[in-house]
Amino acid sequence: MENYWNKQQQKPHTLRNGGLWRDESGRHINAHGGGIMKYGDTYYWFGEHKDDHTSNAMVGVMCYASKDLMNWRNCGVALSVTDERGHDIERGCILERPKVIYNKVTGKFCMWFHLELKGRGYNAARYGVAVADRPEGPYKFLYSSRANAGTWPIEFDKKACAIADTLNMDNYKKWWTPSWRKAIDKGLFVKRDFAAGQMSRDMTLYIDDDGKAYHIFASEDNVTLHIAELTADYLHHTGRYTRVASGGQNEAPAIFKHDGTYWMITSGCTGWEPNEARMFSAPSIWGPWTQHPNPCRGPKAEKTFNGQSTFVLTLEDGRHIFMADIWRPRHPRDARYIWIPIEFEDNKPVIRWRDEVTF
Ligand code: GAL
Repeated sequence: MENYWNKQQQKPHTLRNGGLWRDESGRHINAHGGGIMKYGDTYYWFGEHKDDHTSNAMVGVMCYASKDLMNWRNCGVALSVTDERGHDIERGCILERPKVIYNKVTGKFCMWFHLELKGRGYNAARYGVAVADRPEGPYKFLYSSRANAGTWPIEFDKKACAIADTLNMDNYKKWWTPSWRKAIDKGLFVKRDFAAGQMSRDMTLYIDDDGKAYHIFASEDNVTLHIAELTADYLHHTGRYTRVASGGQNEAPAIFKHDGTYWMITSGCTGWEPNEARMFSAPSIWGPWTQHPNPCRGPKAEKTFNGQSTFVLTLEDGRHIFMADIWRPRHPRDARYIWIPIEFEDNKPVIRWRDEVTF
């Protein structure tokens, strides 16, 4: 694998990890916390438009297009925020980590993102859904919501549901005590949010080989990840979901499949500050998920090279590219990108720092 990527160096362009990545008009690409969808012979990169002085959504979701992953054309705003007061995606809301998947059955492009209502900090903890007839949009906002109201995770049998149902927040006011941890494991927060729906923050989408799609998101106050199955039209949850690494505080999930094994790379929860990447694998999307050591190697590997995972792009030949953001909270627009091809050692993904990449 190492060789393959090196051989490409005769190509005219390279991308400097952490540098300015210019689009075809020469401007730094503004598509943060993003993901990539291939449609036809074109890659579409969707990400958060970020402003000079705020991380709130003043514009919406941007789309860039490329045939070679190196030269990107700005296709403009794919999903626009609105000036309608009180609207879910009113300008100034928080709209993060948009991902788009194409539904072959309906012929629609489906965008999901993390949404926080304007003026409410990170309290809403919702996902939003928008849809378009063309990859670059315009996307029409459909709705925003909490997740899977009124359903327990699939691994909870009758007895586990009954136990979870008795859990009461009043008995666990102090976080991180052994009894709190036990209660979290048994579904303390799932029960708390059972009626209104589960919290949904950092997220990604994944389409499996059988065409089923999944929404993977930080739930339960960012303490536990959820993986939720989507309906055939990719616009709703079916109500089937599983919890991953309960109490593990994972966010920024990025998922891919290699030789039949599902891999997930996440970060810890330190806001815009970088931390050490985590990695999990499972034989099925439904688990069981096993944690592995940090896959990053090289300078600042213990801080994910100062970045935070956002997506893993799987190419048609089966190779995978790890994508991360280097946040710049004081000048959000100037946040940078890291893309690194994933290598395998002893059948486990390894992400080795590269100053430059070329595809
Ligand atoms: C990070 C998260 C980002 C953003 C940020 C806000 O942990 O991954 O998407 O929400 O927190 O502080």
